[in-house]
Amino acid sequence: MKIRAAVCTGLGEPWKTEVLDVGEPHAHEVQVELAYAGMCHSDEHLRTGDITAPPELLELLEIPSMFPCVGGHEGAGLVTAVGPEVSTVAVGDHVAVAFIPACGVCSWCASGRQYLCDLGMTTLAGPMISDGTWRYHLDGQKVNRMTQLGTFAESMVVHESSLVKIDPNVSLRAAALISCGISTGFGSAVQRGATRPGETVVVVGCGGVGSGAIQGARIAGARIIVAVDPLPFKRDNAAKIGATHTAASIEEAALLLPELTEGRMAEVVILTPGVLTGDLVAPAVALGGKDSRIVVTAIAPFHQIDVNLNLFMLSMSNQSLLGTVFGSVSPRVQIPNLLRLYQAGQLQVDELITQEYTLDQVQNGYDDLEAGSNIRGVVNFSA
Ligand SMILES: NC(=O)c1ccc[n+]([C@@H]2O[C@H](COP(=O)([O-])OP(=O)(O)OC[C@H]3O[C@@H](n4cnc5c(N)ncnc54)[C@H](O)[C@@H]3O)[C@@H](O)[C@H]2O)c1
Ligand SMILES: [Zn+2]
Ligand SMILES: [Zn+2]
Repeated sequence: MKIRAAVCTGLGEPWKTEVLDVGEPHAHEVQVELAYAGMCHSDEHLRTGDITAPPELLELLEIPSMFPCVGGHEGAGLVTAVGPEVSTVAVGDHVAVAFIPACGVCSWCASGRQYLCDLGMTTLAGPMISDGTWRYHLDGQKVNRMTQLGTFAESMVVHESSLVKIDPNVSLRAAALISCGISTGFGSAVQRGATRPGETVVVVGCGGVGSGAIQGARIAGARIIVAVDPLPFKRDNAAKIGATHTAASIEEAALLLPELTEGRMAEVVILTPGVLTGDLVAPAVALGGKDSRIVVTAIAPFHQIDVNLNLFMLSMSNQSLLGTVFGSVSPRVQIPNLLRLYQAGQLQVDELITQEYTLDQVQNGYDDLEAGSNIRGVVNFSA
C-alpha cells in the first residue's frame, strides 16, 4: 500500500511529506490508522543527529544509515488490520504507541520493568522487530521509522509489542500526548524522583515533558514546585498546571530555594530542557539538598560525555543522580493510568496543546517549537 508520511531524508534535512510503499503486516504486526501524533523534542534530536545509533550497532544490524526515517513516536489511532498470530489487539481497537516495545517475557518485562525491555535495543533504527525484514520503502530504498513507530504518517505498520490498547471512550488526542512526553515527565517526578507529600520539586525545562513532571509532582503532593524555563510563556503555563513558583534560570532558582525551604533546598530536581548539556548537571545537583534525587530525563547529544561535578558534595549529601527512560514506568501501566487521571479531570492534557498541524506542516510545527511558541504541537490527521 502507499502511505503519506513526514520523512527526514538525511542529517539536518527538514521533515517533508513523501509517499512510501509499505508492505502488509507480517506475523505479530499491526496496521494502525493514526488520529493524532504529538511533536516531542526527541524527533528533533533524530533530525539533528543527537540520537544516533553507534556505528558498530548499525553495522551489526545491517542498517546502512539512520536515514531516511519516518518521524514521530507520540501517537494514537485505530487498528485497521492485523497480521497472523497477533494476540494483543484486534481490528477496531483504539491504541496508543510505546516508544520502547514491550515483549512481556524478557527478564526486564517479567520483573515489571517494560521500559527496559530487551527489544529496546532495536528501537533507534532498522527493520521490523518481528522478522528483520524491511516493511517501508521510498523509491526502492529501505526506510527507518522513529523508535520502530513513525507516527507522522496517515497509517503505520508496527510490531504489536509497540502498542498499548486503550479505552475506546477516551480522547485519542490526549492519548497521543500521554504516549511519550507526559508519561515520561510524570514518571520522572513520581517513580524515578519518588516525590513524597510535602517535598520540594524543581523542574528545569517546561515543555511537554516538563509539563508532565510538574503535574506528577503536584499529584504526588509536593508542597513547592519550582518551574524553570527562560521563556515567560512556558513559565505562565507551568504556573497554570501546578507550579507554585517560577524562575527564568537554574541560577535564579538557586537564589529562590533557600528561602522557600528554610535552607533545605529541593528533594527532587528533574532535568527536562530540550537538549541536555553536561554544564547543566552541576548547577542542577546544587539545587538539591541532603538525600535529594536528581533525575536526568532530557536527551543529550550521543557523543557529548563531559560533566563537571562536585563529587565530595554528592557523596557527603547522600544525593542520587538518576537517569530515566520513559519515566521508569511500564507503558502498559502508565498510559492507561494517566488516561484515567485525565478522564477524572486531575491531569491537564488539552491545555498543553498549543497548536494543531496537518501532516504536511510537521516541519512548521518543529519551527514553532524551536521559536518557543509551542508547549506541544499535534498533528491532526483528519484536519
Ligand atoms: N528520557 C526519556 O525517556 C525521554 C522521553 C521523551 C523526551 N525526552 C527528552 O526530554 C527533553 C524534553 O522534551 P520536550 O519534548 O519537553 O522538549 P521541549 O522542547 O518541548 O521543551 C524543552 C523546554 O526546555 C526549555 N529550556 C531550554 N533550555 C533550558 C535551560 N537551560 N533551563 C531551563 N529550561 C530550558 C525550553 O524553553 C523549553 O520550554 C528532550 O531532550 C527530549 O528528547 C526524554
Ligand atoms: Zn518523546
Ligand atoms: Zn521485554
